[in-house]
Amino acid sequence: MSDRTRIYLDHAATSWPKSQSVLHAMLDFAKNCGVAAGRGGYRSAVDAERIVTGVRKEIAKLIEASQSDTISFHANGTAALNAAIHGVVRDGDHVVASAAEHNSVLRPLDNLSREGRIQLTVVPVGTDGCVNSDAFLRAIQTNTRLAVLTHASNVTGAIQPVAEVGKALRDRRTLLLCDAAQSFGAIPVSVQDFHVDLLAAPGHKSSGGPLGTAFLYVAPELHDEFQPWMMGGTGSQSESLEMPNSMPAKLEAGNLNVPALAGWSKALFELGDMQERMHQHRRVAEILLSGLKAIPNLKCYSSEGPLPIVSVNCDGLAPTDFAAILDSEFGIEARAGLHCAALIHDCIGTGNEGTLRLSASASTSEKDIHYAVEAVAQIVGEMTDS
Ligand SMILES: Cc1ncc(COP(=O)(O)O)c(C=O)c1O
Repeated sequence: MSDRTRIYLDHAATSWPKSQSVLHAMLDFAKNCGVAAGRGGYRSAVDAERIVTGVRKEIAKLIEASQSDTISFHANGTAALNAAIHGVVRDGDHVVASAAEHNSVLRPLDNLSREGRIQLTVVPVGTDGCVNSDAFLRAIQTNTRLAVLTHASNVTGAIQPVAEVGKALRDRRTLLLCDAAQSFGAIPVSVQDFHVDLLAAPGHKSSGGPLGTAFLYVAPELHDEFQPWMMGGTGSQSESLEMPNSMPAKLEAGNLNVPALAGWSKALFELGDMQERMHQHRRVAEILLSGLKAIPNLKCYSSEGPLPIVSVNCDGLAPTDFAAILDSEFGIEARAGLHCAALIHDCIGTGNEGTLRLSASASTSEKDIHYAVEAVAQIVGEMTDS
C-alpha cells in the first residue's frame, strides 16, 4: 500500500484499523497454537477451545443473554442472519420486515417468498429512515412467525424502535429477529431490553474484531425447535448422521475461524464501558453530522443520533463520482451507492443512485472529520459554481 493520505470513513462496512493487540492475538494464535477448536483432547486443542468459550461468554455478557450456549459463531453477519431466518421460518409462514433491512435479510426472505414458501410484508420507513412502530405492528398477522427489524440503518444510522416492537410482541407467537450489525460494540445492545428472540451481529464492525467473525443469539426457548441451516462435522456425536440437537453445536457445522475469534476476544476486552463508548460515538456523530449539515447545497439524509453514519448527495454529482473525487483528490475513503440496502432508498428519496455515505468510528479524530467536511464542502462548492 502507498503512504498517501488515507482517511478511512467506511466504518459501517468494516472497522479499520484493528488494534495492535487484536493483530497480535491473531498472529500469536496462528504461530503458537493454530489448531482446530472442539476437535481434539490434546493441550493446544484445549487452548483453542478455551478461546472460543471465552468469546462466547463475553458476548453473552455484553448482550445480557442468560446463558452462553445461546451464542453461535458464523462467518459473517449475513451467515448469522441466514441461519436465524432458515432456523425458524417454515413453509406457509408470514414474515414482516422493515424497508431499512440489509440485503442479508431481504434477499433470503424475498427468495423464500418467490419460491412460494412464505408470504412477505415489507413495512416502509419514513423519510427520516425510521420505521413507525405502530405501522410495523399493524403488519403482524395471526400467522406471522417472524418479524425482522434492524437496530440501526446502515444507510442513515437511524435507530429503529426495536424495544418498543419487542415489548408489544412479547406475548405473541411472532418471533423478533434484530440485526444489530451497525450498533453492536458502538452502543448498548441488550436482548433483555429489546425483548428479542434472535439477534445477529458481525464482529468486524464497531466491536473492532477482524473480518470473518459474527454471532447469532437464539433464545433458550427456541433451542429445541431451531433447525440448522448448514450441516456437517461438529466434533461431537460423529456416529450419527443427524446434526446434534444441542446448542450451539447445532449451528456450528465445520471448523470455526479460531484465529479471528482470538482477535475478536481482544477487541471485546478493549471495548470498555458501553455507556462511555456510546458517548464517544455520539460525540463523533455530532461533529460529522453538524459539519456536513452546514454545507450549502448538500442534501443530508441522516438525523441526530448516536451513530456516526451520514448519507449525503449533491445535485448533479453522482454518488460514485463524489466518492471517486474524495478518494483521488483527498485520500478519503467513503462508500457510494445503495449500500446493500435495496429498499430504504425508495423511502428516503435516493432510489436512483443511492447516496455517498461517510461513516466514522469512536477513534476517528476530530481533525480527520474536519478535513473530510472541508473536502466535501470544496467539491460541492465547485459543483455549484460550475
Ligand atoms: C445492517 C447490516 N446488516 C447485515 C450486514 C451484513 O454483515 P456482513 O457484511 O458481515 O455479512 C451488514 C454489513 O454491512 C449491515 O450493515
